[in-house]
Amino acid sequence: MSHHTPEPASAGASPAPTPDAAAKTRVVILFGGRSGEHGISVATAGGVMSAIDRSKYEVVPIGITPKGQWVIAADEPERWAITDGKAAEVPASAAEVVLPLTVGDAALRVLEPGRVPSALADVDVVFPLLHGPYGEDGTVQGLLELADARYVGSGVLASAVGMDKHFMKMVFAGQGLPIGPYTVIKPGDWERRRDVVLQTVEPLGLPLFVKPARAGSSLGVSRVDSLDDLDAAVEEARRHDPKVIVEAGIAGREIECAVLGGRGGERPRASLPGEILVTDETKNGFYDYEAKYFDEAAVQLSCPADLPEHVIKQVQEIAVRTFEAVSAEGLARVDVFVTPEDQVVVNEINTMPGFTPFSMYPRMWDASGLSYPELIDELIQLALERPTGLR
Ligand SMILES: Nc1ncnc2c1ncn2[C@@H]1O[C@H](COP(=O)(O)OP(=O)(O)O)[C@@H](O)[C@H]1O
Ligand SMILES: [Mg+2]
Repeated sequence: MSHHTPEPASAGASPAPTPDAAAKTRVVILFGGRSGEHGISVATAGGVMSAIDRSKYEVVPIGITPKGQWVIAADEPERWAITDGKAAEVPASAAEVVLPLTVGDAALRVLEPGRVPSALADVDVVFPLLHGPYGEDGTVQGLLELADARYVGSGVLASAVGMDKHFMKMVFAGQGLPIGPYTVIKPGDWERRRDVVLQTVEPLGLPLFVKPARAGSSLGVSRVDSLDDLDAAVEEARRHDPKVIVEAGIAGREIECAVLGGRGGERPRASLPGEILVTDETKNGFYDYEAKYFDEAAVQLSCPADLPEHVIKQVQEIAVRTFEAVSAEGLARVDVFVTPEDQVVVNEINTMPGFTPFSMYPRMWDASGLSYPELIDELIQLALERPTGLR
């Protein structure tokens, strides 16, 4: 852009290649990734590809393979849908995509063995539809910050805090948000000080919920009804993360609330809450991975949740405070328990919640008057409105 060409006095803008392409915002849909939630991310990308307003946005789909290779992916929503209970996977390719790390350079490049790198396109905004580690945890957000790229959703810190249930709880507690009792098993403690660990776990009572500190989609989460089963549950969680969190079971309804960043410095907006209704038939008695994605009879997403007006207000207020507590941006889903005494207890914040058209986050906005295509549009507009750099 440093090359200066004389311009006609009347026209401010330089001539565009085609009027159509110039008018559209180019959006990279970034999906797949290295985490256990690869398949869900792929399904989400299919949903977004089919719903995004094509008259306004030009889509550049970039997939990340389970091994971490960035590739150009097909712009075919059906290709990425869940079929017969199986999620699709981003296939490896000889042609890799690289993001420029130079500020002011927005051109994606394609690298192929034995070929000169070719510029793919100048990107206006990136929509990272990634869940779990290496996607939802601030790592990809850091890469995008280095590139000075605009992107949808939370920045580095909020993403990292939202991924780590240990630090998440410390931030929530620091902000006076209501959370339940818990203890953390750090790497090493389990091998070297198991007796001390057991002493911190016992006062939590039963049942317990044992979780990897940094995972999602209930991967590695177990409900423990007897201390005899604690060892196995910790080992299971440690398959996903060397840091494990053990929580006291909260008896209450599982309520979720969708939050959208505010426009132009306004406060974040909360949707009508939804409820996860788990039937008795789920194998493990809670909202586990299988129930979430593969067992349609097991769960019912009820939206809006049947709650008294004052509880809805309380859930929304706590959801917005939770969003603000971690400095989330763009979108986040706040999951809470509502006890029989109408106490709201925060379980977690998800900075990249499930985002297929059937997921709770879009459904809660739909019930609140914002359709799935409108929601995608709003998120991209929020990303374009926000400045790059420290903010
Ligand atoms: N402290 C708790 N008390 C009762 N149920 C819990 C508790 N923690 C988790 N659960 C159950 O386990 C599920 C998964 O736990 P969660 O913390 O949401 O992990 P993930 O990040 O994988 O979604 C929840 O949706 C809920 O059904
Ligand atoms: Mg959860």
